[in-house]
Amino acid sequence: MKKNLQNLQDKKSKAFKSGGDKRLAKQHAQGKLSARERLDVLLDEGSFEEIGMFVTHRSTNFGLENQKYLGDGVVTGYGKINGRLVYVFSQDFTVLGGSLAEAHAEKICRVMDLAMQNGAPIIGLNDSGGARIQEGVVSLGAYAEIFYRNTRASGVIPQISSIMGPCAGGAVYSPALTDFIFMVEGTSYMFVTGPNVVKTVTHEEVSSEELGGASAHGTKSGVIHFSRKNEIDTIKDIKKLLSYLPQNCEEQPPFLKYEHNGDEIRLDLNRVIPENPNQPYDMHDVIIGVIDEDSFLEVQKNYAENIIVGFARLAGKSIGIVANQPSVLAGVLDIQSSKKAARFVRFCDCFNIPLLVFEDVPGFLPGTDQEWNGIISNGAKLLYAFSEATVPRITVITRKAYGGAYDVMNSKHIGADMNYAWPSAEIAVMGAKGAAEIIFRNEIKAADNPQEKLKEKEVEYAEMFANPYNAAARGYVDEVIIPSETRRKLITAFEMLKNKVESLPKKKHGNLPL
Ligand code: HXC
Repeated sequence: MKKNLQNLQDKKSKAFKSGGDKRLAKQHAQGKLSARERLDVLLDEGSFEEIGMFVTHRSTNFGLENQKYLGDGVVTGYGKINGRLVYVFSQDFTVLGGSLAEAHAEKICRVMDLAMQNGAPIIGLNDSGGARIQEGVVSLGAYAEIFYRNTRASGVIPQISSIMGPCAGGAVYSPALTDFIFMVEGTSYMFVTGPNVVKTVTHEEVSSEELGGASAHGTKSGVIHFSRKNEIDTIKDIKKLLSYLPQNCEEQPPFLKYEHNGDEIRLDLNRVIPENPNQPYDMHDVIIGVIDEDSFLEVQKNYAENIIVGFARLAGKSIGIVANQPSVLAGVLDIQSSKKAARFVRFCDCFNIPLLVFEDVPGFLPGTDQEWNGIISNGAKLLYAFSEATVPRITVITRKAYGGAYDVMNSKHIGADMNYAWPSAEIAVMGAKGAAEIIFRNEIKAADNPQEKLKEKEVEYAEMFANPYNAAARGYVDEVIIPSETRRKLITAFEMLKNKVESLPKKKHGNLPL
């Protein structure tokens, strides 16, 4: 027995050596942790249970039979984060560049299957040179097995990807199918084709970082949701994100114990909206003014900044916030902001997270660029996402709610449960000047002083519509509230809605305007 135990211990030690000391040292020298070190930071101490430590590949192509490493370049298993079960895989770049082939993928699929069967999140830490070239088409099939599972798991369990090194070729599509992607600044990149192929095909000279680094995907493509300056910060925020999410679509999100401490009235909110309705303000001031202290986790912070999305807590309970940002492009809805918000709304609806909308929107962005790139179908995504959502939904109109954007931003007509407006709200088809120019065109043209007439008609239109009371008279707005009361109103309204049950008509699935 002693010999057997020693044999087991030796094998384990071998597995822990990954691709060897030299490669581990190279990994560290690049500012990267090893696959196992990352799991140590991610999981509660002592909670990790590894599965498949001794798995090896079965290939004999190109001398691979002489390059067998225990675990085949990925550490898989389960553990706990803040006491809650999660399934994990962490690719080991020191073993054949973390490349993915048959056995490696089988290990990932195994934990994905377990995560689905047991209803717990799956977290993938990606650090891989992509398909293992020596294993050929087997590697491609192996990827597809993962993509298939990602798709089947979508909306059932939260799926989180973190890119901690290279992620190239078809490898990017597994993260893209998951709910949230994190990237580490400076040491990770994602692209379908790398700089060399780009140069050959399009003659563009571009570095890996420019093409697919955290900044490119965090600000330009919108592929990722979070970027952090190092691996530790990245992993910390994966844990923070999970604290807002339920384990699966059948569960309610976790909540923190909350005691009403008399801070429900927030007087600062009365001072956020400027006197001049065309002056911008930062919608973050409204969000922070309403939610529990330090509870906002912003998603896609540096992408399509004219809309803000993120998780927060209100009286200890998880909510998803969608808010127009008047200080960027006046908070207009465009293609990027519509897509960003639609995806977030759908995630929250998948996982029973109530939605809170703050609205100050002058409409959709006009122009050929927007029209030719499909603002119609992209704007419709947000309309679809809100209309389809069955979670409790509340809107607060802080200022402008103009045109089609009024309908889209969680209006009563598309199923919002409670709609509040601040006294500064302007709910109309368009701004007063534009409206006056159209409907009083002939009168203005015929006037002795057209400018004066326009002004007069603008005031007339503004008096009629630049307020919340027409909408309130029709019940489109349930109540006009003093800003400082917003937090109290929202806590009470979400409490009132907590047992809301609404189901969609029987269907296979809807046909979102993709
Ligand atoms: C097999 C690989 C590998 C791969 C890296 N290695 N990528 N082995 N298959 N895909 C091995 C290297 O041979 C090397 O082995 C070790 O991993 C470390 O790689 P280095 O090149 O020394 O590391 P580095 O300089 O950091 O460069 C990392 C890299 C580079 C940029 C990722 O390795 C690279 O370009 N790899 C190939 C990327 C690629 O073209 N992958 C296929 C994408 S297509 P030794 O023994 O020297 O340590 C794809 C299709 C999927 O993924 C489609 C799914 C639908």
